[in-house]
Amino acid sequence: MAEDLDVIIKKYRKGKREDLIPLLQEIQEKNGFLSEDAIVKIGNHLALSTTKIFGLATFYDQFRFFPAGKIHLRICNGTSCFMNGSQTVIDKIREETGILPGQTTRDGNFSYEVVTCMGGCNNGPVISVNGTFHTHVSPAMIPDLIKKLKLISGSD
Ligand code: FES
Repeated sequence: MAEDLDVIIKKYRKGKREDLIPLLQEIQEKNGFLSEDAIVKIGNHLALSTTKIFGLATFYDQFRFFPAGKIHLRICNGTSCFMNGSQTVIDKIREETGILPGQTTRDGNFSYEVVTCMGGCNNGPVISVNGTFHTHVSPAMIPDLIKKLKLISGSD
């Protein structure tokens, strides 16, 4: 369940701008994404403009501005997975879902993010689907996987 923004924000000292990233991380961890409301409240608390906060947060791949989909994929693009072709897997997922990393499909069913390492480097490319790991993933496996996930999520 999402935690109250005011409760989280009050844990950080007013005007202490160096707390921005830890604060963004805590809100995302507790609430799953950074809402517009969260950005505005953080701006008021740390005396930072919302433009500055958005600019900084979008620089980091880890932050999301929309709630995750019912099915959330994490795709590793760390060095080892990259050497084993993770970029082609990411490209295929983008092609199949029609969205970019950090976005959520309009029906709210899918989202994905690109991460740097999931600890399974010898078995890459590695992806996780709602926390379940798949190893040695190839682009050829993606259309079938997405089809199965669509059935599970109830989308066409
Ligand atoms: S680099 Fe992908 S799991 Fe470590």
